[in-house]
Amino acid sequence: MTAIRNVGAPPTRLGGADLYEWDYLVQEDRAHRLIYTDPAIFEAEMTHIFGGTWTYLAHESELPEVNDFITRRLGLRPLIIVRDAEGKIRALYNRCTHRGTTLCRFDKGNSKSFQCPYHGWNFLNSGQLRGVPWPEGYAADMRDPKYNLAQVPRVESYRGFIFGTLNLDALPLTDHLGPIATLIDEWLDRNPGGKVVVCEANRFRFKANWKLAYDNSCDGYHVAYSHRSLLETENRFAGENAKGMSYYRDSPDAQPMYMRYTGHGNHYKDKRPNLEKRSGGLWALESMHPGMEHYEADFIRRYGKRAFSLLDLAGSEPVNINVFPNLSLLGNHIQVFEPISVEETNAIWYGTMIVDDGSIGADGVRDINALRMRTQEGFPNFGEVDDIANFEQIQRGLMAIEDEWVYMHRGLGIPDRVKANHDGTITAPATDEAFMREHFKEWKRLMRTRANLAIRREP
Ligand code: FES
Ligand SMILES: [Fe+2]
Repeated sequence: MTAIRNVGAPPTRLGGADLYEWDYLVQEDRAHRLIYTDPAIFEAEMTHIFGGTWTYLAHESELPEVNDFITRRLGLRPLIIVRDAEGKIRALYNRCTHRGTTLCRFDKGNSKSFQCPYHGWNFLNSGQLRGVPWPEGYAADMRDPKYNLAQVPRVESYRGFIFGTLNLDALPLTDHLGPIATLIDEWLDRNPGGKVVVCEANRFRFKANWKLAYDNSCDGYHVAYSHRSLLETENRFAGENAKGMSYYRDSPDAQPMYMRYTGHGNHYKDKRPNLEKRSGGLWALESMHPGMEHYEADFIRRYGKRAFSLLDLAGSEPVNINVFPNLSLLGNHIQVFEPISVEETNAIWYGTMIVDDGSIGADGVRDINALRMRTQEGFPNFGEVDDIANFEQIQRGLMAIEDEWVYMHRGLGIPDRVKANHDGTITAPATDEAFMREHFKEWKRLMRTRANLAIRREP
């Protein structure tokens, strides 16, 4: 008996037919309000996007030991991400095969098996049904693999970032990531040992469609307006040295920062060229947090000339890396979007810590990580609320049914402004909406593709 079962496009209200004329709903310069408001489109996205392409699930550092688990989601599917008894990372459906209840109700833990709270069926963390209470009551062979937990058939990691897809024909993860993998490398490689450990999260829930968050992830146009109070707060004490995102103040497109689309819905905004490359540059840009001056003086006392390069490890990397459809790396943080319904989304910000590879020492690493947590109190708390207010107000605005279109044509049609590069990537000034036009091409491609979806069970 094969362990892989093809599900194709599972039955939904769509019944396998194309719901809409996708080329009408998403055009080069504009998108129709329905893509953000129609529950049937949302339902289709939960297989075509969250299932049809690679989706970020979790970070390996959240499962350091054998038998560790965390509960997450792939679209709306509840999952248990486990490092099983053999050390293999699996994404089990958190759904009992008996009558369908969620099996595990904890956020995280360590367990060799999961016992269903309803009637006590017990499953190994490999997904196999281990036993049922009073088996003599079953005439059926309970060793039939159909009683083993469903699993995401393809789970792969890139440098600790765990992704899953139901699509058997999806490219290998590294090929799918393509050039954005280089950005992830750079984001990691500035840290000791080229690593981070993901730590507890800052959770937001907002009343708006998940795509509004992804549409904003590379948007350099809104910063000076939407985040004005944050920029002013950051700069109040800054004197000559502008802090935070101050390079958005005057003419952001005259700055060397830029956006680049790298394919498969992925893009990044690179603000690093705005900065003079020098030790202490990132630290000097970091906005004011209580206790900063004390730490800085202490680092200088302990490490002398080396202090500022160490303090840079607490500074936020000025690049936003967006991996379609649900992952952003910003500064020192990881942000994950989780759709809940057509008009409700979780935005979860995880902090990251550096690890001691012997080059700094445990005390230094502890203090750098303490400072990194202060940055989690910065933008994620004071900037994200501005963005979320925009998302919720867009969702309200889109209830104006007769006014159908949202525009994303900034930079379109201006000669030499948007550049197609030899490697297939696309570059544009920081305030352009080219990234949005491009990720919608990928969205449309996925929405119209009848992907080869499957679930897997242990034999
Ligand atoms: S629903 Fe899980 S044992 Fe009955
Ligand atoms: Fe923003």
